[in-house]
Amino acid sequence: MSVFQADILHGHVALITGGGTGICRGIAEAYLRHGACVTLVGRRPDVLQAAAAELSLSTGGQVLGVAADVRQPDAVADAVQQTLGRFGRLDTLVNGAAGNFLAPAVGLSANGLRTVLEIDLIGAFTACKAAFDALQAADDALVLNISATLHHHGTPLQLHASAAKAGLDALTRTLAVEWGPLGIRVNAIAPGPIGDTEGMRRLAPGDVGERMRAQIPLRRFGTVAEIADAAVFLRSRAAAYIHGAVLVVDGGQVIAPPSLF
Ligand code: HXC
Repeated sequence: MSVFQADILHGHVALITGGGTGICRGIAEAYLRHGACVTLVGRRPDVLQAAAAELSLSTGGQVLGVAADVRQPDAVADAVQQTLGRFGRLDTLVNGAAGNFLAPAVGLSANGLRTVLEIDLIGAFTACKAAFDALQAADDALVLNISATLHHHGTPLQLHASAAKAGLDALTRTLAVEWGPLGIRVNAIAPGPIGDTEGMRRLAPGDVGERMRAQIPLRRFGTVAEIADAAVFLRSRAAAYIHGAVLVVDGGQVIAPPSLF
């Protein structure tokens, strides 16, 4: 049961990269449940079409699935055009496509680093550029970047993702300053550890997750639904003056020192 009014996003159209799985699928579901139309963009056509069909059925909303890799500017531009063709407008771009793996810096190739930068950072830039004209034409446009908290510390095995997300935060702030006067809000959400996601399965194997949980002030992982709630809030008029912000949603993990007691 949502805490938000059911039609709070009625009439909105969102394009969500990485929307076929994980956190961004949760954001897509929440947007649909609150009245938005959604385009899901992802690399794997089978995963994407299955997600689009399931979300359409479960929410009753209008979902378009477009298979595209954010590393391919023409494919991203086509996803924007398909969105405009189907829904007639685009109000919200959620940049959630991300690649990640655990690798020590000495074991990370330049291509491994480049791959994650190309997906997480340059992919977001590419989508922003592709969506710019449509966003500028919208009455109340929003770019919402999905960041992380890795780069708030020196997180081991995560040089590539940390660099990419630090860059994404910089992109968020710079675009907020450049695009704010054009009527486009730009914000980010930085999720902490979110349970039942591919990211956590890959990045917190074995008992790492349990040790991580014990250090979180709220003593639990977040849920996809909690990140989706933050995304609905930032999309809503309640967040009309929130601009250039990176909203950390992590149960207090990033501000807590290692527990001594
Ligand atoms: C070291 C690796 C590697 C690994 C890939 N590479 N996996 N290096 N350890 N485990 C290197 C490869 O060796 C290669 O470099 C380069 O990266 C490109 O690899 P490819 O497999 O050719 O690329 P691609 O098929 O495009 O896929 C790579 C990937 C994929 C996009 C990174 O592995 C992936 O997406 N995985 C996870 C997706 C995911 O879980 N996303 C959610 C992320 S969660 P060389 O030099 O050999 O050519 C997230 C949240 C962060 O981001 C916050 C968490 C708390």
